[in-house]
Amino acid sequence: MLELISLTKQFGTKTAVERASFKVDHPMMIGIIGRSGAGKSTLLRMLNRLSDSTDGRIVFQGNDITRLKGSSRRHWQSRCAMIFQQFNLVPRMDVVSNVLHGTLNQRSTLSTMFNLYPQADIHRAIEILDRLGIAEQAPKRAEALSGGQQQRVAIARALMQDPAIILADEPIASLDPMNAQIVMQSLRDIHEQDNRMVIANLHTLDTARRYCDRVIGMRDGRIVFDGTPEQLSTNVARDIYGADASFSEAATSTQIDTLDRETARLLEEAKAEALV
Ligand SMILES: Nc1ncnc2c1ncn2[C@@H]1O[C@H](COP(=O)(O)OP(=O)(O)OP(=O)(O)O)[C@@H](O)[C@H]1O
Ligand SMILES: [Mg+2]
Repeated sequence: MLELISLTKQFGTKTAVERASFKVDHPMMIGIIGRSGAGKSTLLRMLNRLSDSTDGRIVFQGNDITRLKGSSRRHWQSRCAMIFQQFNLVPRMDVVSNVLHGTLNQRSTLSTMFNLYPQADIHRAIEILDRLGIAEQAPKRAEALSGGQQQRVAIARALMQDPAIILADEPIASLDPMNAQIVMQSLRDIHEQDNRMVIANLHTLDTARRYCDRVIGMRDGRIVFDGTPEQLSTNVARDIYGADASFSEAATSTQIDTLDRETARLLEEAKAEALV
């Protein structure tokens, strides 16, 4: 389905990603982990064609997407929607318009200029927001929402593109543990219910283990681990993070698993509320 063949990115003399290869046969949820500077963002940006690779190839469903240009490159970018740590919403614009921006690639300049959206798109945007538990936020300005809600708006905007792949670059790095869990669960649900592939850069081991079917570990631009969460032992993690014997998993943890009872109860309440 998706194959990366010896994908490489060089910035001057610095090799940010070095001969990264992996193959995905069916839509799964993949977590990419590794310390800061390991090359995680560079890899996602090449996949999305936000950044050109120096060498190697990306093949999706038999098509080489490595050198697509112009409208075919833009078409690919709508097939693999990207979400970011900082949400990248238009803060002063209302939520539903932010979501409708997800259809931008498919619309004429004129309708974009006048902010004209087909009725059907507006309905679909509200439906997607509803699915993510934030339909009632639709008329509000994006900046009025909490971080977790804003990230769900960004996910809704991505879903508007009906993407085959959702790429997420540290989607929960700016969120508190409770919102982090809600956002990760939303991504997991989208993967399971819609059969979309999700590839997320994550900086915590426990999140990768908990939500992903497969974990890819990067170190100094290279893929040094590719396996299931079960195979990701503490020793393997130590190797990925390049830490010495004092390495502790807690240091890379969002501690979602160690939520106390009261927090867990609040979380359940928040989730129930999100479903109303
Ligand atoms: N535009 C750029 N120009 C020069 N060097 C870059 C550029 N982007 C990234 N790099 C370098 O490439 C390497 C990989 O960076 P990248 O941002 O992919 O790492 P990362 O794993 O996403 O790190 P983090 O966890 O901090 O987000 C780093 O050494 C970085 O300094
Ligand atoms: Mg990064």
